[in-house]
Amino acid sequence: MVRHLLKISDLSKEECEKIIYKAIEIKNNPEKFKAALKGETLLMLFEKPSLRTRISFETGMQQLGGHAIFYSIVDSPLGKKENIHDTAKVVSLYVNLIAARVYKREDMQNFAKDSSVPLINMLDDFAHPCQILCDFLTIKEKKGRLDNLKMSFFGDGYNNVTYDLMRMCAMFGLRMDVACPSGTDYSPEQEVLDEVAELSKISGAVVRVVHNAKEAAKDSDIIYTDSWMSYGIPKEQEEERKSIFMPYQVTEDIMKLAKSGAIFMNCLPAMRGAEQTAEVIDGPQSIVFDQARNRLHGQKAIMLFLREKF
Ligand code: CP
Ligand code: NVA
Repeated sequence: MVRHLLKISDLSKEECEKIIYKAIEIKNNPEKFKAALKGETLLMLFEKPSLRTRISFETGMQQLGGHAIFYSIVDSPLGKKENIHDTAKVVSLYVNLIAARVYKREDMQNFAKDSSVPLINMLDDFAHPCQILCDFLTIKEKKGRLDNLKMSFFGDGYNNVTYDLMRMCAMFGLRMDVACPSGTDYSPEQEVLDEVAELSKISGAVVRVVHNAKEAAKDSDIIYTDSWMSYGIPKEQEEERKSIFMPYQVTEDIMKLAKSGAIFMNCLPAMRGAEQTAEVIDGPQSIVFDQARNRLHGQKAIMLFLREKF
């Protein structure tokens, strides 16, 4: 059966490790992989904007000897002129891999059902697996390990990036505190909490949702935040959301409460003065551009894995 990557827990912990090690190998010796996907085509479908994901996938595919097609489904909306199932069946006749960025998880799941080639989720409202896998590559490089760590997430708890970070920490047996406002619009969904609890039973992870930023920061190795204004959130909600999330802003005081060698992460795009201060994101503990750089290497490894090249 064809493998898709819709959320990070579609992979096992062992598969994530295998992909991360392959990414390190590719990063160290890109020449060796320059024909690894020769003659192959990646179709990239975008319903929402992107800078990093689009450019890193397109460049990555080209560096592996393949070809990438950018297709904006804003111009030709999914499920309008023809149903998603027909679209998935047709496009997977032409290409070797498909990657999609859509608003709704249902669209991603429906597409996957009828795609005869691997589908990679490049972001929906439920997950961002490529980001998280590449982030763990960055953590491995910076910390030298992927165990015995505490991650603290600040801000939007009802959020794709937060969900896959929770799943990944649960799979890797880490400690994680998600510091977010209470209420269903800002805290993780029950479905995600249930999945994380199941994964944690196996790994011994402790993933908590807390409402006190200082408590979350204590003893942390990794301080992570994401936009308060995810793609698609109407501009008129900005002021209200800013005031709701402000108690969870990552400041220098928050960084001081973490371990002295703690790293600061943000998947980007970032807003200085919102989810973190300029001093933090531009400060010595910030590794946000290392994260961005590793999207290229990590996603090459993801594509090779799904094409069963290792
Ligand atoms: N982090 C990330 O996915 O960035 P883009 O939205 O620019 O692709
Ligand atoms: N939570 C953010 C992630 C961007 C990469 C969003 O959905 O816009």
